[in-house]
Amino acid sequence: MNNFLHWFVIIIAVGSFIGCGLLLWWSSKRQPGEAKNGEVTGHVWDEDLEEYNNPLPRWWLWLFYITIVFGLGYMTFYPALGNFAGISGWSQVKQYEDEMEKAQKKYAPLFNAYAAKSVIDLSKDVAAMKTGQRLFSNYCSTCHGTDAGGVTGFPSLKDQDWLYGGSAEAIKASIMNGRNGSMPPMAAALGGEQGVNEVANYVMSLSKAPHDKAMAKAGKIKFAACAGCHGMDGTGNQAIGAPNLTDNIWLYRGSLGSIKKAINQGRSGAMPAHKDFLGKEKVHLLSAYIYSLSN
Ligand code: HEC
Ligand code: HEC
Repeated sequence: MNNFLHWFVIIIAVGSFIGCGLLLWWSSKRQPGEAKNGEVTGHVWDEDLEEYNNPLPRWWLWLFYITIVFGLGYMTFYPALGNFAGISGWSQVKQYEDEMEKAQKKYAPLFNAYAAKSVIDLSKDVAAMKTGQRLFSNYCSTCHGTDAGGVTGFPSLKDQDWLYGGSAEAIKASIMNGRNGSMPPMAAALGGEQGVNEVANYVMSLSKAPHDKAMAKAGKIKFAACAGCHGMDGTGNQAIGAPNLTDNIWLYRGSLGSIKKAINQGRSGAMPAHKDFLGKEKVHLLSAYIYSLSN
């Protein structure tokens, strides 16, 4: 909170307390029973229902004073006055951290037991996989879909097609350290639009999608510019996450337009690292869960 807000909150809060106190003091100056017989406020309802002008009963006043004292105590104890942290040291963040620590202690034995098994053994443990699925829903489904089936730009994790490999180790490395697949724009290297068209048709031909035969033939030679990453035969390279272009499974759609876009503008995708965020035990369990989806 900046300095202005800090004082703004303090002045409004303390000001209301003082205001309430003064109002109570002022209205309690008249003693009960002081109202003269028959003195009324002048308010009239239903033609003849009038209101006597009596002061508040004592006990009622005291309730108000007690609330003020309680409020002042509360504001000293807890963080309420601008940046003043309160003498109790309580904070939302601290409460959250305490609860996290408790949960950590409670679940640590479970996750440690899981961590002692290999990814492949763990992937056959039904109870563990239920926990894995819940973790996946919490942390991964926003990008990979609730069923891990993927969406455009975010790979499916339940098929046999892997950008970086489907071994237990490769999956775990993907989750632990993240992945960053990147393809530069390639149109210039292909000599412009004509070349892009030809190579795109050749890429279509690799997965037997409808394409222009003459164009594809011309594109085959120019595909050499792509072979460094996608391989001579177009089957990709898992070391750098270059997708297989022959299997008709696409990270971004397999239309001619989408392929041309990849060549013209390049493509890149980022899988965030989870090792610090989730810790290695949870990543271990998630690796087993992902492994179980395709095995
Ligand atoms: C912010 C979005 C995002 C989140 C969250 C995310 N991922 Fe990913 N993930 C990606 C992207 C994008 C890729 C592909 C990276 C690329 O294009 O190079 C990927 C790739 C992967 C791969 C490699 C797939 C392959 O074909 O080799 C695995 C495994 C994976 N993610 C698992 C997970 C798990 C498990 C979680 C949850 C802990 C998770 N991801 C959370 C975006 C995300
Ligand atoms: C420097 C390495 C590199 C070169 C060179 C390269 N690519 Fe790529 N390509 C990649 C990577 C990595 C990806 C995945 C990008 C991602 O993860 O978002 C990719 C993605 C693609 C895709 C999208 C695939 C899908 O499943 O949706 C197509 C199509 C493609 N490349 C075609 C080509 C063509 C055609 C060439 C040659 C003109 C080429 N690439 C050159 C690395 C490369």
